[in-house]
Amino acid sequence: MKEDVLERIILETVDVPSLPPVASKVLGLVSNDYTSVSQLEEIISQDEAFSTRILRIANSPYYGRGRGIDTISTAVILIGFNAMRSLVTAASLKDLHRKFGIFEEQHWEHSLGVSIASSLLAAQTEMMIPEEALIGGLIHDMGKIVINNSLSEEYRTVIDKMNQENISSIAAEDEILGFNHCNVGALIARKWKLPGNLEAVIEYHHAEQYPAFEDSGYETLCQIVQVADAMCLHMGIGVGATIDFSKIGFEQLGLTETQFRTLQERLKHCFNEQRDRLLE
Ligand SMILES: [Fe+2]
Ligand SMILES: [Fe+2]
Repeated sequence: MKEDVLERIILETVDVPSLPPVASKVLGLVSNDYTSVSQLEEIISQDEAFSTRILRIANSPYYGRGRGIDTISTAVILIGFNAMRSLVTAASLKDLHRKFGIFEEQHWEHSLGVSIASSLLAAQTEMMIPEEALIGGLIHDMGKIVINNSLSEEYRTVIDKMNQENISSIAAEDEILGFNHCNVGALIARKWKLPGNLEAVIEYHHAEQYPAFEDSGYETLCQIVQVADAMCLHMGIGVGATIDFSKIGFEQLGLTETQFRTLQERLKHCFNEQRDRLLE
């Protein structure tokens, strides 16, 4: 199907959301080399919920390193402008949830699991910065939330089909809806002007072949998230079908089975710990 036809079908069927206003201002500011930390602080501070999220992220084990970060400016300096772009995007994801039912809960657990798995894989293989992989993992399936918001009944049918026939989410979506969460996610990524690496991972995390990306790092991110996704689906962290150990594809990242099994144990531990902490 031609891309513009597909895009029209999606736009007619699915309500593609806008980026929350504060997030879009922040994204604009961090893309500009002349922006100061105080300008950013001023915008972020206008939104209490958003400020809280940024502080929470800065105090997470990935950034906080045990320190108590209590101002937005310190958080911004610690996180850095580049990572801020990705984090703002991740924080905005929360606003996509209109309700919080079983699907949303499983989806949230899957996103958390894939983000942890991606950062563990990135650290182990030294193929990319773990923080970048973490955000890629967190947002890779954002298209699913948006489809579920607009077409919750149809999406229930998609999930049932996946479970009954043990097929992948994109196969079930393509068959029932005529498009999938990668197509929808890619539209949102372009509308939100997300960084190229995030757009790539949203659109191509299920691809068997990648297009010629402008940056070779995009392909690495797609590969890492693809393995992290399979790893979580194998462990039952996610919505729908589980997958066989033989289909995980960790060999593509140069990992031995022993290395991979050790990572899987760490993922189990980190996932349980973080989920419990976030649900407190
Ligand atoms: Fe996916
Ligand atoms: Fe996924």
